[in-house]
Amino acid sequence: MRDEQALKMIAESPLIAPSDGYRNSSYVSDYDEYMKKYNESITNPEGFWNAIADELTWTERSSTVMTGEMPDFKFFPDSFLNVCENCVDRHALNPDRKNKVALYFEGEEGNRRTLTYGQLYREVQRFANVLKGFGLVKGDVVSVYMPNLPETYVVLLACLRLGIIYNTVFAGFSAEALRERIVSSNAKAVVCSNASYRRGRVLRLKDTVDEALQGETPVQNVIVFSRIPHEPTPMKEGRDYDYGELMAKAASVCPPEKLEANAPGLLIFTSGTSGKPKGIVHAGGGFLLGTYAYTKYQLDIQPADVYWNTADIGWLTSHIFVLVGGLALGVTTVLYDGAVDYPHTGRVYEVMERYQVNKLFSAPTAFRMLMKYGTEVSQRYDLSALQLLVSVGEPLNPEAWNWLYHDLGKGKVVINNTWGQTETGGTPLASLPGAVSMKPGSCGVPFFGHHLDVVDKDGSSVADGEAGYLIIRNVFPSLARDVFGDRQRYITAYFSQMPGVYFTGDSAVRDKDGQFWVLGRVDDVINVSGHRISTMEMESSLIQHGAVVEAAVVSQPDEIKGWVPIAFVTLDKTVTASSELEQELKDKIVDDIGSFARPHRMHFVDSMPKTRSGKIIRRMLREIIQEGTVKGDVTGLEDSEILDKLISDIHKES
Ligand code: PRX
Repeated sequence: MRDEQALKMIAESPLIAPSDGYRNSSYVSDYDEYMKKYNESITNPEGFWNAIADELTWTERSSTVMTGEMPDFKFFPDSFLNVCENCVDRHALNPDRKNKVALYFEGEEGNRRTLTYGQLYREVQRFANVLKGFGLVKGDVVSVYMPNLPETYVVLLACLRLGIIYNTVFAGFSAEALRERIVSSNAKAVVCSNASYRRGRVLRLKDTVDEALQGETPVQNVIVFSRIPHEPTPMKEGRDYDYGELMAKAASVCPPEKLEANAPGLLIFTSGTSGKPKGIVHAGGGFLLGTYAYTKYQLDIQPADVYWNTADIGWLTSHIFVLVGGLALGVTTVLYDGAVDYPHTGRVYEVMERYQVNKLFSAPTAFRMLMKYGTEVSQRYDLSALQLLVSVGEPLNPEAWNWLYHDLGKGKVVINNTWGQTETGGTPLASLPGAVSMKPGSCGVPFFGHHLDVVDKDGSSVADGEAGYLIIRNVFPSLARDVFGDRQRYITAYFSQMPGVYFTGDSAVRDKDGQFWVLGRVDDVINVSGHRISTMEMESSLIQHGAVVEAAVVSQPDEIKGWVPIAFVTLDKTVTASSELEQELKDKIVDDIGSFARPHRMHFVDSMPKTRSGKIIRRMLREIIQEGTVKGDVTGLEDSEILDKLISDIHKES
């Protein structure tokens, strides 16, 4: 959309206050209190992070809170703590909390299990001893190739207990992608599940691991958890070991290692726009401090909450808001393995009803999918416990927001659209659900201790209500500390565009009420004949049409106009593509936005290339139309088979 239109929409967006009931039970219950605390946290960040640190368990704590500047900074240097001890031991050793449920596990196929903090404590110690038995020590890297299982949590927490740097690799990645991550992180061991379910299909993960490990690799051992016991799983003598057998023999006590707060804790690869994926390194202690604070205040976690985050463990969101942030707060969570709309469209609600989930965290795409399935489905279930809906990862368009608020939430829920990146290790922008009024589509306000700004290309702040580059002016504990093995790439990617600030690569607007609106990646804005058009706005327009299930808009260079928009549309199964429908959809965009936004071409496709967290990978669509094929990194795809079909569909049409 043109700047003026986007800005007008933002300027006119209504403020919707949370209900009094919610407000009164929140940690921060009004806006003035938020502003006061925020201003204090910016003038005195040491004070804010020190108070957060007071809520955690330390082995040894010095008086220095922070040192250095971007990109070389530290939080609590020469202080020692253990992330696992904070997430598990301090609940398990508390008589009031040891029998509290940590995880309600549910698999797509209907398998259910419950794990209390006390049980988690026992399992984690045993697995830490298993890791020790293989000679793994502090600073080693272990690759974890597992879906959302209680055992995945046990493995990751055991790594954190010993200071072993874990690297979760999304279990939908191909052998090639897994191999690349194993080799570039110099992983000494792999922990995997023998198989997994996805929409009723069995995915044979151990086969993928075997393929990834062909030839020379740094891996000496593979530990295999039998997720589907009847699935034949060939084991390589002397290299591969069964998780269950190892656990049965392992000693039950393993004290947590004393770890410096800035020592690397975890490693997660994220795709750049091109080239090799970057191994983002987070400090263990820094990640704990940040995620504890985000989860506490932005999700407003309370002792009685039953909270479900649908994100896959291969995506950092689960580590931020469940594995570390959530467990550090001692919350009860639902852990689900599989597709949330399988075997039927009401599956997500069925699970919510069973555990009386009061806080649900998911991706905007998943919320839009629920919207398409309709309120008829959600109404069949008892969702009366629901209080808070949270999203991250991509724009939450106002239509989806309104459906969530009015239809699913019956006007009683709080919606929190948060903004964050793998690199920020959390969500520097979000609402504080009890204190900040909502605006449909905005990403809320800066979190305590985070100085965000919107600037022009010279780094000067733009006026409120104007679009610019989103930057962060100060350091915070969960900001990535390095790109594994490539310090220069870390500095170039994030700190070279503007001196002294972290460059997010996103464009944004801060409105007159201090709320931020993230418009998209800097490269997602299309400039057609001098008109800046937000792809989000075009997609929103398409999605409003009853025939459309999903839409993505990318740009293609054009001799005359600079760039032209190309739309990709997935239609409802009951609708057939036709030139009339194409015309109708193009006209709708023209009506909603303006004639300059009329898509140059529209492709009807069966499905979109997506990450497992449900985000459409627009870069791949752009490469297909611009290059005829996908040349960049394809390792983030949920379903790698989709590309060939997509390329042939698109070329058939064009
Ligand atoms: O462009 C922004 C978009 O997602 C990017 C970060 O992606 P990823 O690292 O996969 O996210 C991990 C989340 C912890 C950002 O640069 N993004 C994220 N949240 C939003 C968003 N775009 C618009 N609105 C959001 N709420």
